Amino acid sequence: MSRIHVLHENEAWVVPLRAAFGAIGAPHEECFLDTGLVDLTRPPPAGVFYNRMSASSHTRGHTHAPEYAGAVIEWLERHGRMVVNGRRALQLELSKVAQYAALALHGIPTPETIAVVGAGHIPEAAARLGYPLILKHNRAGKGLGVRLVRSEDGLREALRALAQDADPHAQPRDGVWLVQRYIEAPEPFITRAEFIGGRFLYAVRVDTSEGFELCPADACQAGDGAACPAVAPGEKFRIVEGFYHPLIHRMEAFLTANGIGVGAIEFITDREGRTFAYDVNTNTNYNAEAERRAGREGARTGMAAVAVHLAELLRRGVPLAA
Ligand SMILES: Nc1ncnc2c1ncn2[C@@H]1O[C@H](COP(=O)(O)OP(=O)(O)OP(=O)(O)O)[C@@H](O)[C@H]1O
Ligand SMILES: [Mg+2]
Repeated sequence: MSRIHVLHENEAWVVPLRAAFGAIGAPHEECFLDTGLVDLTRPPPAGVFYNRMSASSHTRGHTHAPEYAGAVIEWLERHGRMVVNGRRALQLELSKVAQYAALALHGIPTPETIAVVGAGHIPEAAARLGYPLILKHNRAGKGLGVRLVRSEDGLREALRALAQDADPHAQPRDGVWLVQRYIEAPEPFITRAEFIGGRFLYAVRVDTSEGFELCPADACQAGDGAACPAVAPGEKFRIVEGFYHPLIHRMEAFLTANGIGVGAIEFITDREGRTFAYDVNTNTNYNAEAERRAGREGARTGMAAVAVHLAELLRRGVPLAA
């Protein structure tokens, strides 16, 4: 039987989607990818595939899950299966350098960034860019390793601390550091625009006054839920109804061109009113409390919209073996 297959590596993030499928009676299956097989001698099952692989999987001990997902997606696409958030989306999920290059092609400004391989070259990049700057990982997620550095002394201190840090996740998983212009917002918030089926759904205003780690996994791991769109208190996340920004149409075009059927783009607007996109998320979670407060319940939640979108793709029919 043809069904919706959800590729993922974190059970907790699938729970709301499972409920949304249940509510509309959509046939689905969950494929947890950590270790296992990809049997290239056989065709994949029929159906629509939705990739929710996350760049931060290694922090949950699933070190090679994205590479596993990559192999599975190659196999699916070779057989003509429809993959929502396919090969290109996975590539973008795993590299902010790739995101910035692709955003630029669609006329979406990003903060000036220098990629650095080998931490020893970070001071050279910082000298080119100037201060204050953001130091972060190319392959990241959950705000991993994001540091605001205000001066040369601050950088020396940050690098000294990094060199002594025993936590393996203090280093970027792919060895690529980003030295990036710090975009200072007049008020401490960023905007996260959510898209489904290439269309803008809603914007979320996210309070950054308590730090940069705004993403799901962090709170899930920390267990306090303070920063997590999936479980955090909703006050940190406020859905802005009737949101409009002139870049939204370009963002829609960017997502469609890159096969990102479900995703979010984060951006900051500075004091001069200039907007910079700095993060593309292909593994999106919605904050249930913020949705409730905005009157988005039942069929009006983000996950309900994702389920309906995938069910519609399944209903329309997908190509069988290529
Ligand atoms: N250039 C920048 N200027 C100002 N703030 C920034 C910049 N880059 C990152 N930040 C802050 O750090 C947070 C995390 O950064 P970013 O989204 O790039 O990392 P991430 O690991 O992909 O996080 P997540 O998975 O939570 O989206 C941002 O939401 C923002 O608050
Ligand atoms: Mg982010």
